[in-house]
Amino acid sequence: MPDTAMTDAPLLAAAPASAAVPALSVQDLTVQLFRRDAPIAAVNGVSFRLARGETLTILGESGSGKSVTLKTMMGLLPARARIGGTVRLSGRSLLDLPAAELARLRGRRISMVFQEPMSALDPVYTIGAQIAEAIVRHEGIGRAQAMARAQALLERVRIPSAARRLRNYPHEMSGGMRQRAMIALALACSPDVLLADEPTTALDVTVQIQILLLLRQLQEEMGMAMVFVTHDMGVAAEISDRVAVMYAGRFVETGSARQVIRTPGHPYTAGLLASTVHGGQRGGVLEAIPGAPPDLAALPAGCAFAPRCRFAEPDCTTTAPPTVARDGGGMVRCPRAAVPA
Ligand SMILES: Nc1ncnc2c1ncn2[C@@H]1O[C@H](COP(=O)(O)OP(=O)(O)OP(=O)(O)O)[C@@H](O)[C@H]1O
Ligand SMILES: [Mg+2]
Repeated sequence: MPDTAMTDAPLLAAAPASAAVPALSVQDLTVQLFRRDAPIAAVNGVSFRLARGETLTILGESGSGKSVTLKTMMGLLPARARIGGTVRLSGRSLLDLPAAELARLRGRRISMVFQEPMSALDPVYTIGAQIAEAIVRHEGIGRAQAMARAQALLERVRIPSAARRLRNYPHEMSGGMRQRAMIALALACSPDVLLADEPTTALDVTVQIQILLLLRQLQEEMGMAMVFVTHDMGVAAEISDRVAVMYAGRFVETGSARQVIRTPGHPYTAGLLASTVHGGQRGGVLEAIPGAPPDLAALPAGCAFAPRCRFAEPDCTTTAPPTVARDGGGMVRCPRAAVPA
């Protein structure tokens, strides 16, 4: 059994005393953001842990809190955000670290492939300079050596003519090339944990598969733990050991990729599967689930999915749904879930 569990129970209680410290553990994470002056509940109690070499994929509709969850771990939320819970990187608590200390870990121990590569790459430096700078800063090696490493990284993410591409500025690259350069930058210092926020959406299908296989391979070589975000069930099945389905800032179902995809227990997961069966669904309306996600400024006391759920009963909107355990450590947050093994 991998040392991975996604549960609402306290993590320390769930883990035997002798168990290895997880590469990443998140316990009861909550994030409140502000839209103008109104608070919105973007993340509402997310817990999981991940061992070295494992991948968790977070799936969910637009606005469900996937990116906010990842950015919280990187310390990249607006200053006004209110954060609760704990995030531990190899046992070390991140949320209470001074900003300078977190900046030292960022890139070296935990790094992120951002959903929008243009916002993460610096427009005034070449790709080569940016990757080499990260390597020099974190590893203290010489510039020429760092540049050679940068070129090797571009080759690994299948950027043709890597030596020439090192001298390109981000705006001189296509969206797909930029996304690959962003992946190379994130991998530059062999982080222990990689947060990959829809890293392949700008790529065509063949390149997408190449990049997924590459991430898998690098992950095995480096023993990296990875949190992967996607809208695409097919991609989730390809890349992950475990899947978490997110709705309105909560995990509503977790389990092995195989379990969740073959035998979804939550009505939302079933709808998501029905809507994405022919490839990724970005943003728009989910055909199999009528209605829209709830207003995060006014979440109901009970299940946030109840207004869209065809199995909902009156108590669903008033009472928080219990979690029903699945075999192997997963769960479904729905009292009426048919939970297969
Ligand atoms: N900086 C911010 N300030 C205020 N609200 C924000 C901020 N960033 C995100 N939000 C809000 O938080 C909620 C969750 O956003 P998030 O970006 O995590 O969604 P997502 O699941 O990543 O969606 P997508 O699939 O479209 O990328 C949304 O309602 C969004 O509008
Ligand atoms: Mg996002």
